[in-house]
Amino acid sequence: MPTFAPDNFIFLKKVQMKEQKTYILAIESSCDDTSAAVLLNGKVLSNVVATQKIHEEYGGVVPELASRAHQQNIVPVVHMALDKANIGKKELSAIAFTSGPGLLGSLLVGTSFAKSLALGLQIPLIEVNHMQAHILAHFIDEDGFDKPSFPFLAMTISGGHTQIIRVDSYFDMTVIGETIDDAVGEAFDKSAKILGLPYPGGPLIDKNAREGNPGAFRFPKPKVEGLNFSFSGLKTSILYFVQKHTAEDPGFIGENLKDICASIQYTIVNILMDKLRKAVKETGIKQIAIGGGVSANSGIREALKAGEKKYGWKTFIPKFEYTTDNAAMIGITGYLKYREKDFSGHHVTAKARFKV
Ligand code: KG4
Ligand code: ZN
Repeated sequence: MPTFAPDNFIFLKKVQMKEQKTYILAIESSCDDTSAAVLLNGKVLSNVVATQKIHEEYGGVVPELASRAHQQNIVPVVHMALDKANIGKKELSAIAFTSGPGLLGSLLVGTSFAKSLALGLQIPLIEVNHMQAHILAHFIDEDGFDKPSFPFLAMTISGGHTQIIRVDSYFDMTVIGETIDDAVGEAFDKSAKILGLPYPGGPLIDKNAREGNPGAFRFPKPKVEGLNFSFSGLKTSILYFVQKHTAEDPGFIGENLKDICASIQYTIVNILMDKLRKAVKETGIKQIAIGGGVSANSGIREALKAGEKKYGWKTFIPKFEYTTDNAAMIGITGYLKYREKDFSGHHVTAKARFKV
């Protein structure tokens, strides 16, 4: 049901007048990327992402540093997005922003900024769930990219989440499986850290894995009920494995890096694919859309393509810039909500936890 918050009534006249051309300014600040995008009727005119490098020194995202960096980045990033889209603030129809889930301090920066700008411009405000947005990124109008039809299964795999979701319509989503501990991106990043690789290690594991032997070493797969995932045991077994071998040969990691990375990636991909096969079997849905930073992984992409041939799946992988955290996905979600006139009142707040 569309919601009409009382404090948005004054904007309705304006909304009706601008229905032909809907310009959405979208803001994303849930983790360590400050991003702003401008969309015109579902097409991306600009998508600017400022990735915070400061966290590399610490081997992971430091929440306090992230929110400070968002404060520094948000104004220039929004300006750049408007400039690239070649439009002025006054032409905007609405502002969409990530209200959760994510790091509270980071979310607060985007939330406060979006609320103030919407109030100043007297245009509607649209809150967006970051995880829904990763899924709805598939509905951005982009040449050469098909959109899934309903119902489909979505697998969101990122540094913060690992979920399998049944999607029956744009905003009718049911989580049917999720991690009970670490997210898959954390499994990649923590394994990389054990191997002495810098943060974020996921892409580096992927790069090394491409030249390694995936059968060189074996790591145990967790036994988890239903469609849920667990990755913390894998991290521990990799730690013990590395400690044992480097005690015998201090050069072990350097001599075997590619094979170790390939074996870790092989195990992680298998864990994901096992559950995906199970989800397809249980739901009878063979359309699979993936999202989140880990969908850049070459092993996962190959396994999905293989699934198309082997099991008759149809798989959807968004354009690379829309898989990692970005404001364009917030913009398309905002646009879909705008069409329903599903606006937020100015009482809306950032929320660290926010279910799809
Ligand atoms: O969606 P995202 O940009 O941010 C979060 O919401 O977490 O995902 C970032 C995660 C990191 O854990 C990063 O290591 C992982 O995605 N990642 C990868 C690859 N590219 C990014 N993991 C494995 N292989 C990759 N090629
Ligand atoms: Zn994300």
